[in-house]
Amino acid sequence: SAAEKGGYASFMLKEIADQPKAVADTLLGRVGTSGALHLDEVRIPPHVLREVDKVVVVACGTAFHAGMIAKYAIEHITRLPCETELASEFRYRDPILDARTLVVAISQSGETMDTLMALRHAREQGARVLAVCNTNGSTIPRESDAVLYTHAGPEVAVASTKAFLTQLVACYLVALYLGQVRGTKWGDEIRAVVRQLSEIPRQVEEVLGTMEPVRELARTLADRDTVLFVGRHVGYPVALEGALKLKELAYMHAEGFAAGELKHGPIALIDEGLPVVVIAPSPRGRSVLHDKIVSNIQEIRARGARTVVIAEEGDEAVVPYADHLVRIPAVPTLLQPLVATVPLQVFACELATARGNEVDQPRNLAKSVTVE
Ligand code: G6P
Repeated sequence: SAAEKGGYASFMLKEIADQPKAVADTLLGRVGTSGALHLDEVRIPPHVLREVDKVVVVACGTAFHAGMIAKYAIEHITRLPCETELASEFRYRDPILDARTLVVAISQSGETMDTLMALRHAREQGARVLAVCNTNGSTIPRESDAVLYTHAGPEVAVASTKAFLTQLVACYLVALYLGQVRGTKWGDEIRAVVRQLSEIPRQVEEVLGTMEPVRELARTLADRDTVLFVGRHVGYPVALEGALKLKELAYMHAEGFAAGELKHGPIALIDEGLPVVVIAPSPRGRSVLHDKIVSNIQEIRARGARTVVIAEEGDEAVVPYADHLVRIPAVPTLLQPLVATVPLQVFACELATARGNEVDQPRNLAKSVTVE
């Protein structure tokens, strides 16, 4: 009903707008003022977490993209090797797991059969499973050793938005908590990540307040056949997520690439006027990556692409190559997906609406897929 949508035209629009609160609720009570994490709910004893020698993240769909970002955070913060795998692939390739493996299973619904089968297999091999889940008492948390709930509230629209942002928050918390328990030495950069987390709700709100040009752009692209998305580092999974949203909602051909791979094939797709969305990495800290993306943007633009560049405030180096510039707040590189994903959600939702599609119930898709 209209009341359930809180005055918005769709659940998806409402859920996009709910994100600052969803993120704040997911952080609530978990990060102390001193920067220490309080995650007693992770009921895997500290001595077990200290013995972990490998982390494997399994998930499907949008949750898989959160898992890809988790890999960057976990490896960087804990220095533990971390693999992220599609749950449907993981189970059937006889993965190497033992009692020292921590499996993180990410699922909004907690009922996705592929993810459930992956975690059952992992537990049979003796691995510990930590679920990151948005649905209290659902099957995946019930069958896991521990659960870290995301507090996004019920997500109704089939395409995931606020659950994704809160999955990211949970993954950062898992990485930081593992680091804390294992006594990883925290440098200034990691301390900055902890500090910045509490600013994210306000920053997401800020992004939401500046989306009108993105909606306008989306409407002008409604008759296109293809949109490409490129990013590097944590911007690569963001590119994949941007493309997935467009497929799910607008039924368009959309693909995400790692910008460094463009030259190994995808650049052949670029022709006059093709819209290419670029997620520019934070210019802070990882300047090497930033220089590289600037040359990637130059390359694709030289071949006629119409570039839509998502870049941090103050990033001037990308300006000459951006046909459309979307500004996001400056945050530590690892956290950038929390602000960079939001314009892509708005873009896909508006483009789908302009094409006359029903955004809450896209054709052929289900909110939770309980078959393998
Ligand atoms: C379905 C939904 C996706 C979702 C995926 C995983 O395919 O349409 O939006 O990302 O399942 O769902 P889960 O509930 O496990 O996060």
